[in-house]
Amino acid sequence: MKYARIVSNLPGPKAKKIIAQDKKFVSPSYTRGYPLVVAKGEDCVIEDVDGNRFLDMTAGIAVTSTGHCHPEVVNAIKEQVEKFIHMSGTDFYYSVESRLAEKLASLKDGNWKVFFCNSGAEAVESAIKLARYHTRRSRIIAFTGAFHGRTFGAMSLTSSKKAQRLRFGPLVPGITHAHYPNAYRPLLAQRKGQSQAEAHLEYITEIVLNKIAPAEEVAAIVVEPIQGEGGYIVPPKGFLEGLRKICDEHGIVLVFDEVQAGMGRTGKMFAHEHFDVVPDIITSAKGLASGMPLGAIIAKAKVMNWKPGCHASTYGGNPLCCAASLATIDLIQNKLARNAAKVGKHLMAGLKKLQKTSPIIGDVRGLGLMVGAEIVHDKKTKKPAPDLVEKIIDRCFYKGLLLLSCGESTIRFCPPLTMTKAHVDEALEILAAAIKEACGKKCIVKTKHDYECGTVI
Ligand SMILES: Cc1ncc(COP(=O)(O)O)c(C=O)c1O
Repeated sequence: MKYARIVSNLPGPKAKKIIAQDKKFVSPSYTRGYPLVVAKGEDCVIEDVDGNRFLDMTAGIAVTSTGHCHPEVVNAIKEQVEKFIHMSGTDFYYSVESRLAEKLASLKDGNWKVFFCNSGAEAVESAIKLARYHTRRSRIIAFTGAFHGRTFGAMSLTSSKKAQRLRFGPLVPGITHAHYPNAYRPLLAQRKGQSQAEAHLEYITEIVLNKIAPAEEVAAIVVEPIQGEGGYIVPPKGFLEGLRKICDEHGIVLVFDEVQAGMGRTGKMFAHEHFDVVPDIITSAKGLASGMPLGAIIAKAKVMNWKPGCHASTYGGNPLCCAASLATIDLIQNKLARNAAKVGKHLMAGLKKLQKTSPIIGDVRGLGLMVGAEIVHDKKTKKPAPDLVEKIIDRCFYKGLLLLSCGESTIRFCPPLTMTKAHVDEALEILAAAIKEACGKKCIVKTKHDYECGTVI
């Protein structure tokens, strides 16, 4: 292996100490799938505290878009940190924030304005507030399988996993969920000649907006242009365009949550650019600043018509984050979006090849470097196999490959956009070996066993 290098037991002795400390003091709500204790990162490789090296197909949940510690991003942060660290763009002006706003606004044609915050969830909260303010209406339409964050407004739109909502209610009222179209697992019956997109749009028009949430009371439709946490699901052509039509007809604000899919990940700056549609508000975070905590909403200027004092955030638009973001966007525009498209095709082709010989890869889907492989027990019945997903990801970790899951039983690939074909080839080699082992009768999830026993191997 050229990138992955395992030199100790996992977790190694230094990692064990940190995990023990973490277990004692850190919130147990975090879902660590395996005992990776990070020491440093460079490009697409993470090194742990015991000197083990892992090929990173996670980018810290689709965040380190330019690779770990890209020198241009590091320099931009260093230059800014020597000038000033914070002053609050909410109350004062500084150039790096205005320049970033101009840059983000210029990514779309026409007049756009930008509001800065700290995270994806905060961007979604901001979009909800702006849509309500602008329309003076309260209802919101969201989608099943959606993930928009953990704060109350965002969580109320989220409907990806039960644990994300259980025992947190009552949630924000006035939110109605419609089904997100899924080509692999169709949920709605289609009439003869009717496309899946048309069936879903008809349901939204005839049932949701006509019987449950009257269209004239709806402020926004909030949708991920590619569903992320819900399973890396690409909607069929015509669906997002149809939502645009519905919004135009009823004066509803169309919000695209690009927190995970945006910033070059799919091969275009924004995922919705693969479709013939422009939203009214775009939410962004994750890859926006290569790992510095920055969120934003980019809204049509006529929609962002709120008055001073309506909405703000002390740390939003932090100068270090803005500097990192300017460097990040340059890199994405100049080469990384193109790279994501090219290397993403290579990854998809490799996974599809693996799918032909593997009885458990039911579906391979995605755009650019936002790719999912859905794991099933049986390709005919499509019975989801979360147990196998867990085993495969676990086996990959022990071989030096970092992966995450999404949806009910999908392995997600969301690496840094600097990933090369050579990285992908090594990852696929590890994955193929891991799948073989995971399908063996004797395979247990080693890390789960460790955690449950409270001891590590
Ligand atoms: C589409 C989408 N929206 C919002 C969020 C929430 O972002 P954050 O975790 O930064 O609050 C996420 C996080 O995974 C996401 O994928």
